[in-house]
Amino acid sequence: MVVMRAIALLWVASSLVVTAIALLDACPKPCACFSKDGTKYVNCSRADLTSVPAGIPADVQQLLLSGNGIANLSKMDFAGLKSVVSIDLSSNQLTNDAILPGTFDDLPFLGVLNLAANENFTDFPKNLPTRLYTLYFGYNRVTRVTEDSFRNLPQLVYVDFENNQVESIAPGSFENQHHLTGLSIGFNQITELPDGVFKTTKLQYLGLRFNQLARVPADLPATLTDLDLVGNKIKEIPSRIFSNLTELQTLQVWQEKTLTTIGDNAFEGLGKLQILDADFCSIDRMTNATLSGLSGMWELYMGSSQIPYIPPGAFHDIKNITTLWLDGNQLTTLDPTLLDTKALPRLSEVFIWDNPWTCDCHLRWLKEHIDNNNTSPTIDSPHIMVCNAPPKLKGRAFDTLSPKDFVCGNQDSEPSTKSSALGPGIVEVVRDERMRMPFTGAGKSLRVARVWRDENTSICTPAVIDDYSILCMTGVVLLFLWVGFSMGRAMDKRQRAFAEAPGKMCF
Ligand SMILES: *[C@@H]1O[C@H](CO)[C@@H](O)[C@H](O)[C@H]1NC(C)=O
Ligand SMILES: *[C@@H]1O[C@H](CO)[C@@H](O)[C@H](O)[C@H]1NC(C)=O
Ligand SMILES: *[C@@H]1O[C@H](CO)[C@@H](O)[C@H](O)[C@H]1NC(C)=O
Ligand SMILES: *[C@@H]1O[C@H](CO)[C@@H](O)[C@H](O)[C@H]1NC(C)=O
Ligand SMILES: *[C@@H]1O[C@H](CO)[C@@H](O)[C@H](O)[C@H]1NC(C)=O
Ligand SMILES: *[C@@H]1O[C@H](CO)[C@@H](O)[C@H](O)[C@H]1NC(C)=O
Ligand SMILES: *[C@@H]1O[C@H](CO)[C@@H](O)[C@H](O)[C@H]1NC(C)=O
Ligand SMILES: *[C@@H]1O[C@H](CO)[C@@H](O)[C@H](O)[C@H]1NC(C)=O
Repeated sequence: MVVMRAIALLWVASSLVVTAIALLDACPKPCACFSKDGTKYVNCSRADLTSVPAGIPADVQQLLLSGNGIANLSKMDFAGLKSVVSIDLSSNQLTNDAILPGTFDDLPFLGVLNLAANENFTDFPKNLPTRLYTLYFGYNRVTRVTEDSFRNLPQLVYVDFENNQVESIAPGSFENQHHLTGLSIGFNQITELPDGVFKTTKLQYLGLRFNQLARVPADLPATLTDLDLVGNKIKEIPSRIFSNLTELQTLQVWQEKTLTTIGDNAFEGLGKLQILDADFCSIDRMTNATLSGLSGMWELYMGSSQIPYIPPGAFHDIKNITTLWLDGNQLTTLDPTLLDTKALPRLSEVFIWDNPWTCDCHLRWLKEHIDNNNTSPTIDSPHIMVCNAPPKLKGRAFDTLSPKDFVCGNQDSEPSTKSSALGPGIVEVVRDERMRMPFTGAGKSLRVARVWRDENTSICTPAVIDDYSILCMTGVVLLFLWVGFSMGRAMDKRQRAFAEAPGKMCF
């Protein structure tokens, strides 16, 4: 009898174990359960779920629930998922009060939560796990950040609330954030940051792209390595505004059409800056002190602005420069000492097309440099350098002239009559990209004479091919193809700039 009972008990116990193992191994119906790189995933994305399915394996580490119709969450939903590190709940139907108290209490290791694109969040939810270190909250509808927004989340390292409608950030909002390292808050409506709002953080990356900032935020933490102020409404970069940011490596202020003024010594202190990207601005002055302090800079982007003149001492400090983008400005001349590789030994490439050059004796050196193998540094796309003056040479491409045509005063002689590589009728080349396409064969290249210049300029009229003629539309198609597979962050950036701008194409 005792034996029988023992056997029965054993049988019950073992069947329980078997059931438990089966449950452990089971994967709930619409989900996929798998291991990848030693991490256990349960993927229940895009499965028309309205709640978290029961029976999720207890050892799950990455739980993917994106793209469902989940509208509320409680402790029951995640009961027993002790190993979970990351939950993706993006693109669901969660709202401000939809996350009940205790929902994440059972999850000791939960550090990453994705709540992006739950369109009806108008506030940061309460009841998030206090150990959270990464919060994705983009594409929601939050309008302000207050002292309470992150008060209960003191372990945050990275927060993203891009593409919300945040207009204001209260001064103490990040006071208890001593670990915060990255903050992506672009594409909001932020008009101003309180001075020192990130002072207590360890912020290295601050992304403020496409907000409504009218001035450069002051008193940013000295730990910053990357600052993105692209597409705001900043008018001026004041003197020494970044003087505390001695660790900064990249500074992006492009697509800042309101930006006219860079104060003398504005970048003082940025000795570790490698890339300064200020393309597509309206900078109208450069002095000997505009770039001072940028002794470590490799790449300078100041194309598509309004710079009328670069004084001979302007590049004095930027001894490590390799690439200079100054295309699309109002430059009429350039002093040869500026590009002297004795002073700038690493300078290898210079972009200065699309400037209204005065082709006189002062610029003859440049024509000679281009003709003389064009190295150290290389002037990019010399075939689209066009003269704007003197009147006799207006509209003439450098290609069609010889150095002796670059004369001053009454030395005037008849310009060379070398036939124009651009062909008759094209007097203005706004911007040209030479595209070496695999299928055009060696030496053949496509010219698109007008490429985007700002948000309002059409993309291509006309297009010319060296050895063929081709329709403008083909030019556009090829251009995008080319942009697609050409390397170069610069072109990638221009493409983005174009994509983000309310652009219009030709026709
Ligand atoms: C999860 O499932 C969705 C929908 O089937 C799929 O698109 C996605 O690639 C999957 N994700 C992973 C990490 O397997
Ligand atoms: C949670 O969502 C489910 C399914 O949409 C709904 O039936 C239930 O009433 C909701 N519960 C709460 C507390 O809102
Ligand atoms: C979200 O808001 C929209 C419009 O305000 C409303 O139609 C929709 O029902 C809301 N969804 C939820 C899940 O509350
Ligand atoms: C630099 O840091 C000092 C000390 O914290 C502060 O007083 C000053 O305002 C900061 N300067 C800028 C431009 O933020
Ligand atoms: C210039 O670049 C070299 C090579 O990358 C680097 O070792 C050096 O520290 C840089 N100089 C400055 C002043 O940053
Ligand atoms: C700028 O620097 C150049 C070369 O060092 C010098 O000749 C010129 O006088 C300077 N200009 C001003 C305004 O200091
Ligand atoms: C220009 O380059 C070619 C081939 O690279 C070389 O043969 C020629 O000597 C160079 N000319 C000058 C003036 O450096
Ligand atoms: C582009 O066009 C719009 C509308 O015509 C105008 O408001 C804006 O100032 C233009 N932008 C530039 C850079 O010309």
